[in-house]
Amino acid sequence: METNTKATDDGRKIVLSGIRATGNLHLGNYYGALSKFVRMQDDYDCRYFVADLHALTTHPDPKMLHENVKDILAEYLAAGLDPEKNTIYVQSDVPEISEMYLLMNMHVGIGELMRTASFKDKARKALGIGTPAEGEDEEGIERQIIGNQTNQRVNAGLLTYPTLMAVDILIHHADFVPVGKDQEQHLELTRRFARRFNSFYKTQYFGEPVNFNFGGSAVKVPGLDGSGKMGKSEGNCIYLIDDEKTLRKKVMRAVTDEGPKVPNQEVSEPIRNLFTLMELVSTPDTLEHFKNAYADCSIRYGDLKKQLAEDILKTTLPIRERILDIRNNDEYISKVVRQGAEKAREAAAKTLRDVREIMGIKKF
Ligand code: TYM
Repeated sequence: METNTKATDDGRKIVLSGIRATGNLHLGNYYGALSKFVRMQDDYDCRYFVADLHALTTHPDPKMLHENVKDILAEYLAAGLDPEKNTIYVQSDVPEISEMYLLMNMHVGIGELMRTASFKDKARKALGIGTPAEGEDEEGIERQIIGNQTNQRVNAGLLTYPTLMAVDILIHHADFVPVGKDQEQHLELTRRFARRFNSFYKTQYFGEPVNFNFGGSAVKVPGLDGSGKMGKSEGNCIYLIDDEKTLRKKVMRAVTDEGPKVPNQEVSEPIRNLFTLMELVSTPDTLEHFKNAYADCSIRYGDLKKQLAEDILKTTLPIRERILDIRNNDEYISKVVRQGAEKAREAAAKTLRDVREIMGIKKF
């Protein structure tokens, strides 16, 4: 049996990534993932998908799911992904993924899944368990989740979320998985499952995929509410689809502090977050100007926010216009995903055939 090829026939490395179909894309998705997808498309064999099966773990309204998938596809294309250069598909259009998810689950421990940060976070929210205070016993939280006597339920799909994500990646033998910082633990689990599979079946079948950041480190885009990352469920997002007025209003309302009182005062989290956003969207000179103004106490947060809004709009407005355009073109979107599913299935079917054989499943 052919082992992990680690590259396509033409020698290019394989890139795989996806975004859950849970609503419009925000700046966190854009700078953590989508902008990297676009930058990688000329040099790698890239396969990008919309994770609709993963979205089911949080029970979306069935009427909305398909619309959400379409939104993200339109946003992929509007951000500059070229369907001729990339394989763009919807996760559920590749049923091989679901079968391999079942097979891979046989090698995944419930303990390691329960210790995953994203699982604990989502389970806590589902059961109404508060966030642990600093230093609080994490195992206590795990016990509360297991011993839950409420009529709220944490579904098994949420627990096995990392298995499905590992399969998304391994079924393509991906070398690189461009994701934001919050997904790195899932990527670490993917490598662990790959190693475990290889060692159990005494094979070198799977490689160990890594994040890709153009030589830098993984990005965590902060929200506008003073703390934490930008996230759909946090209500602190700037969306690619936001119109000019909405976007300016959101930025002008961003949390700040009382302003520096003494030169070179330590920068508080809300202001650090605004500088982080500025680092992503503004020129280095602009950022330096405001950092200097902070250091000598002459900064006016109103000016900082106005500039920040201006610079965000330079990126998002052209994308927004294209989203609105593509979103109305059902025919184009279906053509892209039909073509993408065909290519993705070809690769996935080969891996699934190999995995079945390695695990001893044979046809009569
Ligand atoms: P999801 O849908 O939550 O997020 C999609 C991508 O956006 C990145 N991201 C951020 N990056 C920086 N700062 C932020 N504030 C921020 N918020 C979101 C995420 O890191 C991610 O790259 N499990 C994945 C989807 C998935 C996947 C995969 C990804 C399923 N299978 C296989 C890669 C490979 C998720 O929930 O991402």
